[in-house]
Amino acid sequence: MRDSAPVLAIDGPGGAGKGTISRLVAERLGWHLLDSGALYRLTALAAAKHEVALDDEAALAEVARDLDVVFEARDGGTVVWLEGADATTTIRTEQIGDAASQVAALPAVRQALMQRQRDFLKPPGLVADGRDMGTVVFPDAPLKIFLTASASERAHRRRLQLQEAGVDASLSSLLKEIQARDARDMQRSVAPLKPADDAITLDTTRLTIPEVVDRLTELLAQRGLASAI
Ligand code: DC
Repeated sequence: MRDSAPVLAIDGPGGAGKGTISRLVAERLGWHLLDSGALYRLTALAAAKHEVALDDEAALAEVARDLDVVFEARDGGTVVWLEGADATTTIRTEQIGDAASQVAALPAVRQALMQRQRDFLKPPGLVADGRDMGTVVFPDAPLKIFLTASASERAHRRRLQLQEAGVDASLSSLLKEIQARDARDMQRSVAPLKPADDAITLDTTRLTIPEVVDRLTELLAQRGLASAI
């Protein structure tokens, strides 16, 4: 049965800290990790490689279904392989993020990635990071978090992240991109970005990463899903 192990579903807009928080909580608990956004990004990258147009829904769904991808845990991070090539940094560019947001709006692509995402659920548990983890992919998750932060705070964080990777980007252009992606993710007809009815919303604008990780661990412990560490 799918729910034989617990799922912590973490949804929210881009740049709210989901990736970092999810990885740290999974590490602390020794649970598996699903970075569902990476699957949409990989679909966009594979489509570019195979010259599939971003509006060819049937062909994109085939690309998504056939994705040859390996997630390899290494040095506290994840190395992502697409068709045998290291795609870890390529999938993080703004260009691929934008294409990912477009392919993610297509129902056939979302359907093609559904089972692949559910297959990540194995004992002792799964931290699932995305936009529709609590609403669509794992509706029975015993703890659902909607992680958010103000758009300007998210633009700041994205800028720092890019700077660390040696990329310079202006705050105003990042803010515009974040707002455009939020709008697309929230307005699409299939699996739009929104909190599940039973989700707990956590605004991280003024919280540090360790504070958020502690809060989530506490919530899991309160529900008997993990012992407080
Ligand atoms: O979280 P991210 O930035 O890596 O996600 C990339 C894109 O994929 C983003 O525009 C939203 C989309 N996405 C989605 O629609 N559903 C998910 N479960 C995860 C990501």
